[in-house]
Amino acid sequence: MTDRMSEQPLIVPVILAAGQGKRMRSSVPKVLQPLAEAPLLDHVLAAAEGLGAVSPVVVVGHGGEQVEAHLAGRDVRIALQDRQLGTGHAVAQALPRIEDEAIVLVLYGDVPLIATDTLRQLTAHASDGALAWLTVHVEDPHGLGRILRDDGGAVIGIVEERDATPVQRGLREVNTGILAVHCAALKRWVAALDCDNAQGEYYLTDCLAMAVAEGVPVRVHRCEDPREVLGINDRSQLAEAERTLNRMRADRLLAQGVMLRDPARLDIRGRVEAGRDVEIDVGVILKGRVVLAEGCYVGPYSVLSDCTLAAGARIEAHSVIDGAEVGAGCAVGPFARLRSGARLAETSRVGNFVEVKNAAIGIGSKVNHLSYIGDATLGEDVNVGAGTITCNYDGANKHHTRIGDRAFIGSNAALVAPVEVGDGATVGAGSVLTRSAPPGELTLARARQTTIQGWQRPVKRKE
Ligand code: UD1
Ligand code: CA
Repeated sequence: MTDRMSEQPLIVPVILAAGQGKRMRSSVPKVLQPLAEAPLLDHVLAAAEGLGAVSPVVVVGHGGEQVEAHLAGRDVRIALQDRQLGTGHAVAQALPRIEDEAIVLVLYGDVPLIATDTLRQLTAHASDGALAWLTVHVEDPHGLGRILRDDGGAVIGIVEERDATPVQRGLREVNTGILAVHCAALKRWVAALDCDNAQGEYYLTDCLAMAVAEGVPVRVHRCEDPREVLGINDRSQLAEAERTLNRMRADRLLAQGVMLRDPARLDIRGRVEAGRDVEIDVGVILKGRVVLAEGCYVGPYSVLSDCTLAAGARIEAHSVIDGAEVGAGCAVGPFARLRSGARLAETSRVGNFVEVKNAAIGIGSKVNHLSYIGDATLGEDVNVGAGTITCNYDGANKHHTRIGDRAFIGSNAALVAPVEVGDGATVGAGSVLTRSAPPGELTLARARQTTIQGWQRPVKRKE
C-alpha cells in the first residue's frame, strides 16, 4: 500500500488521430505518414512511452482501420470517433476507458516532435490536481488558439482564431493543445462542452475557462522549443519536420562529441550510438540501429543501416552498409556494399565495387576491387584478387565457400561453391574452381596458354 502511494500517479496518454489530413493529398491517413521512416503516430507513442505512461488511448476516425491495423499487437487502446465534431468531442470518446484517478495527457498524432522531457515537466504540474496546459510563444500565431490572461497575468481561457477579436488575434502566446489533468475533472468538463462557436465544434480548449470557473488551479507550462509543437497538416510541413528532427538528432550527436562536417547535411532516421571522435562527412544517411565506436569515420554519401562499426573503422565515400559488422581499424569503400551478415574482422579491407553478403572476412584480409563475396568464410591475411566471384547460387540453393588463412586468390577467379581453398593456397588468376584447392599449393583451373606460330590474320577479299 505504501509502495503504491509513493509511486508516480498513473499517466494515460490520449492521442487524437481522427482527423482526415486532407491537405496531405494522400490515401494514407495523416498519422501514418512517415517521418524519418516511422509513422508520425509512432513518434508520439515513443515520447509518451519515455514517460513510463501506460496503454495510451488512440482516438481514430478517418482511416481508422488502417491506424488500428498499424497498432495491432501493441499495448494501445483504440477509441472510435466516427464524426469529427471537434477536439473536445474526440477526447470525450477516450475518457470512458480511463480510471478517474489517472492523469490524462492529451497528445496529437500530428504533433510528432514533442519531447519526453517536456511532457515530464507538464505532467508534474498536474500531480496535485491542477490543470497543466502547454503553451508556446510564436512569431506567427496564425490559425492557432490564443491564450487569454487577465490584467494580473493569470490565465483565464483560450480563444480560437476564428472566434477572436482583432486585439486577441495579436497575442503571440498560443495553445499547443497538449494538456495534463486528472481524469475525473476532464470527464466533468468535457461533458459540459457546447458547440456554440464559429466552427460549431466541441472545443477542448473551453475546458480551461471551466477550470478557472471551478477554482481548479491552472498551470501554464511554456514549451521552450517551438519546434517540438509543430503540427503537421501538409507535405511541406512534413518535410520541414523531417529536417527539424534531423537537426535535433544531429545536435544531440554534436553534444556527445561527434564531429559532423555539416549537421544540416546528415539524415538520422534511426537510433545512433556514437563514441568519441567519430567523424561523419556530408550526405550520410543513418537508419535502424547504428553503432559507431570511437574514432570511426563515415565518408560522404554513405548509407548505413543496422550496423556496428568498431573503433577506428573507416567507411569511405558512397558505400552502402546494411546489417553488417565492421571490425576495428577496417577500411571499407569507396563504393563498397556490405549486406546482411557481412562480418569484417579487425583491420580487414573491402574496397571499391565489392559486395559482401553473409560472409566472414578474417583479420587483415583484403578484398580490394570489384568482387562478390557471398556465403563465405575467409581466414586471416587472405588476399582476394580483383574481380573474384564466389559463385554461391546454383539456381536453386546457396552454397558456402571456405578460404583458409594466407590464401592468395588470383584476379578474376570464380569459386564455384561448395568449395574450399586451403591455408596458404594460391589460386591462379582466371581460374574457375569447382573442386577444393589444397593448402600450400598453386592450383590453376584455366585453359593453358598456347601460341600458334606463324598464324596469319585474315585479309579482306578484293571484289
Ligand atoms: C487546435 C486547437 C488550437 C491549437 C491548435 C494547435 C481546439 C479547439 N483548438 O486547433 O487552440 O492552437 O490545435 O495545433 O482544440 N481531431 C480529432 N477529432 C476532431 C477534431 C480534431 O481527432 O473531431 C484531431 C485532429 O486530427 C488533429 C487535432 O485533433 O490532430 C487538432 O485538430 P485541428 O482541427 O487541427 O485543430 P485546430 O483547429 O488546428
Ligand atoms: Ca491543427
